[in-house]
Amino acid sequence: MVKTYLLIAGLVCGLGAQAASSQETAQASPQIEDNLLRPGDPFAGKMRYNLCANCHGIDAEGIESIGAPKLNGLNDWYLRHQLGAFMNNIRASNTDNRGAQMMRVMATTIPDEQAVEDLVAYLTSLPNTTDTDNTVEGDAEVGAALYQPCALCHGQQAEGDQNMGGPSLTGQDPWYLKLQLENFKSGLRGANPKDQAGARMMPMARVLVDEQAIDDVVAYIATLTPKVNDPAYQPE
Ligand code: HEC
Ligand code: HEC
Repeated sequence: MVKTYLLIAGLVCGLGAQAASSQETAQASPQIEDNLLRPGDPFAGKMRYNLCANCHGIDAEGIESIGAPKLNGLNDWYLRHQLGAFMNNIRASNTDNRGAQMMRVMATTIPDEQAVEDLVAYLTSLPNTTDTDNTVEGDAEVGAALYQPCALCHGQQAEGDQNMGGPSLTGQDPWYLKLQLENFKSGLRGANPKDQAGARMMPMARVLVDEQAIDDVVAYIATLTPKVNDPAYQPE
């Protein structure tokens, strides 16, 4: 929570600076309060989430047949970043990526940053569900070795590393991890020149030489315990 407030404070200062510098007179705008973001309101987020639930599930557990991922158990900063990337057409620029196109259209229903904050507050308040019907089979021991270079950006326990932009992978279901690794590898995701985070991930997906390697690394990640939203967890 402290982090969230700091981030919002940072955003607000940024907005303030922008507004001030755009004023020719360089005087502080009396309307500046209108630009302030309130901390996300989980209740407002829940109302807004009703639409999203059609694809992402009532508990944000994800629906594999639609290709819509689980949204509980993800980092708040990652949710914010992804919603921004869809809203600004950074993530879904490849028209062959049908899942991303679906989501891009949905993102147009999110009116502003406050709505994003509300959605993030709601999603991060939900319990982390785990897929009982894992459709990815691989060798977790081989996967553990394959995972080593990934730890640089995703953390030793795949808990996520905000500085590197690598999200927690433990809170996500195996089928979606596999799909996204394939998408990064083929360039369906991450190839937009404006997508700096995607550009960092794309070459890493290519290190996984074939489907077996993808299955193995995903099988290993599935053995790690989700840490996001666990109040007892303190990153090192
Ligand atoms: C019509 C179905 C549909 C609806 C409705 C929908 N989404 Fe999605 N969403 C998807 C699909 C499919 C993906 C996966 C995109 C991909 O494969 O790149 C996705 C991806 C996402 C992601 C990225 C997660 C990640 O880890 O990569 C977020 C965040 C998200 N959706 C949030 C929302 C929110 C919030 C709403 C409601 C405003 C919403 N979605 C409504 C289908 C939908
Ligand atoms: C140089 C840093 C870096 C390394 C190393 C790295 N990643 Fe990533 N990864 C990222 C970033 C940044 C993103 C988020 C991309 C975005 O914001 O769209 C990401 C996203 C992902 C996603 C998508 C998650 C989601 O919810 O949509 C998966 C899956 C993934 N990485 C797996 C791996 C695996 C497996 C490895 C090792 C083979 C790896 N990554 C190595 C930086 C890295």
